[in-house]
Amino acid sequence: MRIGVLTAGGDAPGLNAAIRAIGQMCFRDGHQLVGIANGWAGLAGDFAGRPMVPADIAGIVGQGGTVLGTARFDLDNPPGGRDRVLSSIERHLDALIAIGGDGTQRISHWLADRGAAVVGVPKTLDNDLIGTDYCIGFDTAISIVAESLDRLHTTAASHHRVMVVETMGRGTGWVAAMGGLAGGADLIVIPEFPYTMQEIIEHLVNRRARGDAFSIIVIAEGVNLETLGGHESGELSSEGVRGVRLATRGVGQFLASQINAHGGFEVRTTVLGHLQRGGSPTAFDRIWATRVGAAAYDAVAAGQFGTIPVVHGSRIELVPLADVAHGQRRVPRELYELCAAFF
Ligand code: F6P
Repeated sequence: MRIGVLTAGGDAPGLNAAIRAIGQMCFRDGHQLVGIANGWAGLAGDFAGRPMVPADIAGIVGQGGTVLGTARFDLDNPPGGRDRVLSSIERHLDALIAIGGDGTQRISHWLADRGAAVVGVPKTLDNDLIGTDYCIGFDTAISIVAESLDRLHTTAASHHRVMVVETMGRGTGWVAAMGGLAGGADLIVIPEFPYTMQEIIEHLVNRRARGDAFSIIVIAEGVNLETLGGHESGELSSEGVRGVRLATRGVGQFLASQINAHGGFEVRTTVLGHLQRGGSPTAFDRIWATRVGAAAYDAVAAGQFGTIPVVHGSRIELVPLADVAHGQRRVPRELYELCAAFF
């Protein structure tokens, strides 16, 4: 079989571990592994697939990024991209494994519905793919957030400052909430549980009154500016602000400026940005990316197309792509309340 593999959307640490797992199983069973360059772009135009050899996947388990390259590529603008991908799969491949988040898996689902032999693998640093407890890259991202907070704590304490830390998280607050919980944040502001500016100031004032001379506020980039007294320049949907790169909205900087305007606090802002996506994956991401990658290969080998391996608790289950293609996994109230117990 000619088994294609692609990575689409934003990169995430752990992608190479999944590619390696898929490749290793392919070579073991005598199949041909075809690496597709730059996600869907590699199938929508001239076919950008090339046969891979064992040396291509040797030593990459701990490497960040993706050896295949990736891209944010809109198959619907201009229209016709999906059909070109479909025909490219039919002409060049016997099966395709698509590693990506909700956008990628919506395309995988669309293709599988039209008879393409596609299997997905869950990846999103934001951790908001519905129907799975695990997405490639999230564990590394929150480890970076936690380490950053550890570092910011010492300087915040020395200067008695308020530190505002902006994390990734387009429409949901998983990275901010779990990174903040692990790093001892004093307030976590996420789209799921909005605060008004007045509530944030009151919290800072109360903390100081009880003797906490500094505070670390973690805020997800996708928080609605209007709840903080600002103005949204793009349309805000459940998946974030459409048509606007979230980082350019400067939510963290805006929150800091509002605290500054109130007076009485010295504030600094740190935007963690792509540091959360770069570099080597944690052992947890390497292991689980390997497991979901290997499970996707098993699905292909068994002819179980139109599926995606997901993680429930500590088990991998193979579910229809339809289960992950629509909706968004949001931070549940009980988990946020646990975070808030430490504010
Ligand atoms: O979707 C994952 C994500 O990491 C978001 O949290 C973030 O808004 C976005 O990617 C950044 O994407 P880009 O690398 O294209 O700027």
